Amino acid sequence: MATAKIKRIGMLTGGGDCPGLNAVIRAVAKTAMLQYGIEVMGIEDGFLGLVENRVRPLSFKDVSGILTRGGTILGSNNRCNPRRFATGKNADGSPIFSDVTAVCIETIRTHALDALIVIGGDGTMAAATAFVHAGINIIGIPKTIDNDLVGTEISFGFLTAVATATEALDRLHSTADSHHRVMVCEVMGRNAGWIALTAGVASGSDMILIPEIPFDEEEIAGYINRRMDGGPGFAIVVVAEGATPAGGQQVVARIDPTSPDPIRLGGIGQHVADSIAARTTADVRTTVLGHIVRGGTPTAPDRILATNFGYHAIRILMEGARGRLVIRQNNMFGDIELLQSAGQQRRVPFDSALIAAARAIGTSFGDAASTPLSPSAHSSGY
Ligand code: F6P
Repeated sequence: MATAKIKRIGMLTGGGDCPGLNAVIRAVAKTAMLQYGIEVMGIEDGFLGLVENRVRPLSFKDVSGILTRGGTILGSNNRCNPRRFATGKNADGSPIFSDVTAVCIETIRTHALDALIVIGGDGTMAAATAFVHAGINIIGIPKTIDNDLVGTEISFGFLTAVATATEALDRLHSTADSHHRVMVCEVMGRNAGWIALTAGVASGSDMILIPEIPFDEEEIAGYINRRMDGGPGFAIVVVAEGATPAGGQQVVARIDPTSPDPIRLGGIGQHVADSIAARTTADVRTTVLGHIVRGGTPTAPDRILATNFGYHAIRILMEGARGRLVIRQNNMFGDIELLQSAGQQRRVPFDSALIAAARAIGTSFGDAASTPLSPSAHSSGY
């Protein structure tokens, strides 16, 4: 394939940070510098750096020694969508929005950037579409702990978030057992239950509540009673922040009107704990892991995934790709049209093999399907 004439690229990290961002930055920059002699410019704080013209050259030294570091050396921002950028406030305090795409394109031209490597989730990719339409070459790399980007079976950051949540759930396990308590643990994930499901299974949690399976509070109470009375006398309940009671609503912690995704979820863990306490005699405690699962060093699989994604992004760019998102599907690296993925969310499918396996070993999802059909002398049915 023909090699593209690319002399200088810009790179930004958008949306919420996650473990592995620096590993990708390193892989992109080192591949670009070592294999193709390309200059790499770092754009600070996501698209905000383009709006405010905060762009700096990255040296080989800048991107060395950062593989294991959490966060992003470039800074990030999940409140900047150039098409709807908050430039001021109305008298009532509501934001005034302007389209500053042209300002960003001017910054791209000023720095003679031949392409942008955009590392982000669905919000960042959606924001990037304006640049694709304006003729800017963007190569996207899928980042999010939520693992909800359409088109890729995995995004980097997810496995580290799962490992951190699993460790926390393991720790709750021993204290729940000692005190004969129900421990409810809320984890992030937005409208998808990937973190809760995967960490829930990995930690052997007794109940997993995810947005894709609305829960029934009476079913939850029945299950908890069976565990507390006839069973081990303690329970671990992992709740995705986007989980909802059947016929109910998500619990919203706050609204950030300047953000491309203004809803910040949070509070469903306490709701579930209160519901259990009201319907059973169990002693219940709540833990919210929150941003803890987004911080710290990436695990080995995320370092490898991030390195592969970074390398593939530069490889396809130099093979002539335009407006593409690097992906992994069926364990193979590839790429899809960026516009195909932008602004959508990939949720846990109803026929998920992991849900089936969890149900088979007695894990409850807080729904009627979790009630054992035929408890026997060999199965206490919790
Ligand atoms: O998308 C990543 C994520 O951590 C979600 O799981 C969570 O809902 C959201 O970001 C939190 O956003 P913020 O960092 O603005 O509180």
